[in-house]
Formats: sequence, C-alpha cells, structure tokens
Amino acid sequence: MRPIRKAVFPIAGLGTRFLPATKASAKEMLSVVDKPLIQYAVEEAYAAGIRHMIFVTGRTKRSVEDHFDTAYELENELELAGKTDLLKIARSIAPEDMVCTYVRQSRALGLGHAVLCSKELVGNEPFAVLLADDLMVGEPSAMAQMVEQFSEWRASILAVQNVPLEDTRRYGIVSAENITQDLVNVTGIVEKPTPELAPSTLAVVGRYVLTPGIFKELENLPRGVGGEIQLTDGIANLLRREKVFGYRYKGARYDCGTKLGFLQATVDLGVQHEEIGAEFSAWLDQRRETPAMAR
Ligand code: G1P
Repeated sequence: MRPIRKAVFPIAGLGTRFLPATKASAKEMLSVVDKPLIQYAVEEAYAAGIRHMIFVTGRTKRSVEDHFDTAYELENELELAGKTDLLKIARSIAPEDMVCTYVRQSRALGLGHAVLCSKELVGNEPFAVLLADDLMVGEPSAMAQMVEQFSEWRASILAVQNVPLEDTRRYGIVSAENITQDLVNVTGIVEKPTPELAPSTLAVVGRYVLTPGIFKELENLPRGVGGEIQLTDGIANLLRREKVFGYRYKGARYDCGTKLGFLQATVDLGVQHEEIGAEFSAWLDQRRETPAMAR
C-alpha cells in the first residue's frame, strides 16, 4: 500500500497580493508559462504516488474544479479536428486513476483551519499538504522525497529551507537538532517571528506530511498570528506528543505568492520549456544587450 494516499490543497486564500488579477479569479489558476500553479502542485503529489486530491476551496475558486474535471466539449472539438497532441494535454490534467474531492472553507480563518476542514475526507491516516504558492521543481519531486522520508520515519515531516534572517517574518521557523545532513529533529516551531525572536533561519516551506494526530491539535486551537488559526501552532502542540522531522528537500523553490518569485519562476521555466525555451533564451540574451528602452 502507498504510505501516503491523500493530499490536501488549501486554496481558499484571497490572493490579495496579486490584485487586480485575483479580484474575481483564483490565484492558484495563475499560470507559469502554460500551466496553472495548482496543476504543478497536483502533478507533484501525483508523482509521489498520491491519487486522492482534496481541495479546501472557497468563493471564486470554481475554475479549479472545472480545471480538474473532464472537458467534454473541448475534448470533442479537439478529437474532431484531429488535434491529438492538444487532446493528450487536455486529458492528462486529470488521469483516470486520480480522484478529486472538494470541501468548502466558508470562512477565511487561516491555514490550520483549512487543514481542519479536510478532517472527514482524510480520516485516520497520514496525509500530505501542498501549498500551491510554493512551486517546487526537482526530480524526484519534493513530495516524492518527503513520502520516502515518511516511509522511513513514520512521523510528520516538514519541508525546510534556510532563509535570510530578515525573511523569518514570512515563514514558520523551526528550532531543530541535526540528525543527518538532510534531516533535522524539530524541537520547536513558531509562526512568522521577527528576526530578533526567530529561533533559527530554518523555514518551513509549503510541503508537509502530517499524521492524523494534527487534527486533534487543530480542533481546540486559539487564533494565533494575524488572528488566524495557524497550522504552525497545531504542529507546535503535536510536538508534545509525537516526533516531527524537518527535511531539507533537494530542488528549486519559487515563492509564487510574491510577484518577484512568480516572475523568476516564469523566466526559469520559460527557458526550459520544450516548445519555446530556445527562442525565449535567445530573446533574453538579445534583451540584455539591447534593453527594451533602446529597442
Ligand atoms: C504559510 C505558513 C508558514 C509557512 C509558509 C510557507 O504561510 O503559515 O508557516 O512557512 O506558508 O510558504 P503563508 O505563506 O500562507 O503566509
């Protein structure tokens, strides 16, 4: 049996940093080159052997449901027109062995609350959480690496990465002891500390494998930083009962929750793109020599 069968995607957030683009549409549907952020995350989970995708959704997120649904009209048109390549792309979004379920988070009470909304669908088994804002690129996928770690340690695993000291206020920050080069034993965790209060610069990025014990911790949690029910606070409580590990995954991460990270991902994935990579690279080189103003 696969050790991790279900993945939770909290997607109810408003995406205010990308206004006006996100006024009426889902930030998770913003595309890097030609693929929405949420599809990158779902493909990462699928590559880790996960087949049941659980979306914790909210208003303005209908397009995510449509994206992972069968598009009969589109498929029909492409089939009739003999556009088999495009048909393959349309069909590959939701492979036949993938199950998608949706649960609404009707109030934006925070990431911890979003995860709690998935409790009935997850049930009593370990599960993955993927935040689509963090676009991870690597082979094997970041989640595949984490699932492998889970198989070995049978305890919650948080993806961690060192960040500059001035950035600690953007992340959950752990205190930890090294076990191996890649793995740390988490001894404490705080949400978005100021650099003065940060226990380290080891930050949690948007990938988690959690034991179902987390639900009990989240159930009675008071609101934390920003008035929200924080997943980080739930993990801090879980630590009193269970071991939690931090894993330094291998691969690149783009913070697509910020405009800068989104543009960096667009450029990096653009130059690697099968269809337009070479042409885009050449254009970038030319642009460096002749800036837009002079063209
Ligand atoms: C969330 C978590 C934070 C984590 C971050 C990773 O914050 O609350 O602990 O470090 O994701 O991207 P958000 O970025 O949603 O504010």
